[in-house]
Amino acid sequence: MTIKVGVIGAGRIGKVHAETVIYRIPEAEVVAIADVAEDAARHVAETLRIPHVTRDYREIMADPGVDAVLVCSSTDTHTPVCIEAAQAGKHIFTEKPIDHDLKRIDNVLAAVKAAGVKFQVGFNRRFDPTFARVHQAIQSGEIGDLHLLHIISRDPAPPPVEYVKVSGGLFLDMMIHDFDMARFLVGAEVEEVYTRAAVRVDPAIGAAGDVDTAVVVLTFANGVIATIDNSRRAVYGYDQRVEALGSGGGISTANVYPNEVTVSTGEHVRRDLPLNFFMDRYTASYEREVRAFFDAIVHDTPVPVGGPDGRVPVVMGLAARKSLQEHRPVRLSEVE
Ligand SMILES: NC(=O)c1ccc[n+]([C@@H]2O[C@H](COP(=O)([O-])OP(=O)(O)OC[C@H]3O[C@@H](n4cnc5c(N)ncnc54)[C@H](O)[C@@H]3O)[C@@H](O)[C@H]2O)c1
Repeated sequence: MTIKVGVIGAGRIGKVHAETVIYRIPEAEVVAIADVAEDAARHVAETLRIPHVTRDYREIMADPGVDAVLVCSSTDTHTPVCIEAAQAGKHIFTEKPIDHDLKRIDNVLAAVKAAGVKFQVGFNRRFDPTFARVHQAIQSGEIGDLHLLHIISRDPAPPPVEYVKVSGGLFLDMMIHDFDMARFLVGAEVEEVYTRAAVRVDPAIGAAGDVDTAVVVLTFANGVIATIDNSRRAVYGYDQRVEALGSGGGISTANVYPNEVTVSTGEHVRRDLPLNFFMDRYTASYEREVRAFFDAIVHDTPVPVGGPDGRVPVVMGLAARKSLQEHRPVRLSEVE
């Protein structure tokens, strides 16, 4: 059986996921793509030979031949699109975050449960081979009992201020990936967060009501302490690393480079800067997460990143924001 797929949203990530299905997933076939910007959808459809193009995603929902949808449209559309997809009986892969509002997320999760469809959330970094190996080391006890985890996650440059204004802010837009990474690596739930944050990169980000530099301390129910360090600008490129310490040893990861060359001269030993763009740094993870979604459909097994995994990082983001506003540690139960 070939799984028939509709892609909703033909922007940056929609194109990546459509390509993955078409070139890498033999069990699936992209039969339609929708975007309110019809030219964008048409361009992707022509490049990838997708037979049906529409500006109205409801056409995809109404097509009984479509088994699954990949929701890759702007974040503010995820809730209505996912609810309609569930009601139409389609399996759903949605990009993160599901929504910025917990009530709306709960409505999505209720619709998915009522329909009994698969529902996976696009926390792709879990599927990165480096972070997957760190997870394996921690969960197998290779470094003993985990005591400390540090997550460093810095962008090469801030997004446009117009984007910052509608993004939900650093905690829900950027750090949300790191909240997911922390839960994934530690394998337990966070009880409390404490935030220190500032505007150090661009005053325009502050004027838009956001911060661009932040450290959040997470206290887990199992006693592990973790930090997340975010900056909107690291001049040397995209800096994505973790470090962990356990009773039996430690783990550290390096950034990913475009080549392995070292240039040695009389003055310096140098190498080129790390990969600069998330699309390049996380290419393997995008393929592996989409493959996992279709594996779950084919074998009727649970998806690896489900509804609760999509919801908890939003709770953590709201708690981190409240901690910043109120200058105190905030328990997750306070924002539920
Ligand atoms: N997991 C990741 O690493 C990652 C990376 C990038 C984006 N994302 C997420 O993916 C989503 C899209 O981000 P992007 O960077 O591709 O944005 P984008 O702006 O490049 O693309 C979004 C597309 O959705 C379309 N769209 C908006 N409303 C629509 C609707 N009602 N029906 C159909 N199409 C609609 C827009 O016209 C646009 O073409 C966001 O939720 C974002 O958070 C995740």
